[in-house]
Amino acid sequence: MKALVLAGGSGSRLRPITHTSAKQLVPVANKPVLFFGLESIAEAGVREVGIIVGDRAAEIESAVGDGSRFGLDVTYLPQEAPLGLAHAVHIARDYLGDDDFVMYLGDNFIVGGIRALVRRFQTERPDAQIMLARVSDPRAFGVVEVDGHGRVIALEEKPERPKSDLALVGVYLFTARVHEAVRRIKPSGRGELEITDAIQELVDAGCRVDSVVVSGYWKDTGNVADMLEVNRLVLDGIEADCSGEVHSSELIGRVVIERGATVTGSRIVGPVVVAAGSRIRDSYIGPFTSIDSDCAVTDSEVEYSIVLRGASIVGVRRIERSLIGREVEVVSTPGMLRSHRLVLGDHSKVQVVS
Ligand code: G1P
Repeated sequence: MKALVLAGGSGSRLRPITHTSAKQLVPVANKPVLFFGLESIAEAGVREVGIIVGDRAAEIESAVGDGSRFGLDVTYLPQEAPLGLAHAVHIARDYLGDDDFVMYLGDNFIVGGIRALVRRFQTERPDAQIMLARVSDPRAFGVVEVDGHGRVIALEEKPERPKSDLALVGVYLFTARVHEAVRRIKPSGRGELEITDAIQELVDAGCRVDSVVVSGYWKDTGNVADMLEVNRLVLDGIEADCSGEVHSSELIGRVVIERGATVTGSRIVGPVVVAAGSRIRDSYIGPFTSIDSDCAVTDSEVEYSIVLRGASIVGVRRIERSLIGREVEVVSTPGMLRSHRLVLGDHSKVQVVS
């Protein structure tokens, strides 16, 4: 069995972060979301992984390398434009050969990994197996109808009137039969070759397509609220570990201060991670916050947020539910009462107290 990991796509809902970074490399608990997926694939016993890359190929390749650090053997497969998930299968045709494969969308996050799902597929041998999750608003996803045995009857991509609350999770298991189906489908209304259409094609051809409702937690980390939620979830599982320097400070609950980080005169209420090279001074860091390497937080309050490498926050209270990009500066200007001075990149979003 091989794996096909999709790490193309433009990440429009995570702008401006994705103007300069691949969405799959945005970190949760200071680790790129893509790495959680690669670790799950390795843990499921798959070694050969093809990664579909687009505009951000160089960044993905330099982060993942040859895959050996994950115990994987990675091959990069360039996709000239984001023409759909089934198009990705099409360009990976030669790489995949006639092998079974697991297709994994690089921005999906599944708690508990995929080992049990892969094993079920290998034991049951359906033609394809999809994963489903119950969601409150299925219109943003592929939506699936199943029979009483979990066999797939019909699928629809982002329907206006969903026929069920079962959304397609971004992990799919296929036999080589999917390739004929991909060859037969035509681009959808949004101009993409949809994997949902290819799966429907399998169903229509009389193939057995099984579904499994995932019991663990699943998120598509396509937007900021979901990123923060996944960050919360990962931080919820951390153990306290203080290897950095801490002076005149209070650390409460599960707080990780990496070696090379310093905390002075501050109060940190976990779960929180502070990466190497970061300095927290005279500040409050509240639950579910990840502070990546080389950040400076001074005289500020930050809670339920993700702060990326090299950012600095000075004299600001309070920052909440925020995603702060690399090398960003957020500072207060005393003296400038009731005015804001903003230098924001394209597609930035700022909410100020007015
Ligand atoms: C894709 C699939 C959709 C699936 C979703 C899961 O949507 O087309 O069927 O439910 O991934 O993350 P996209 O993220 O490309 O909008």
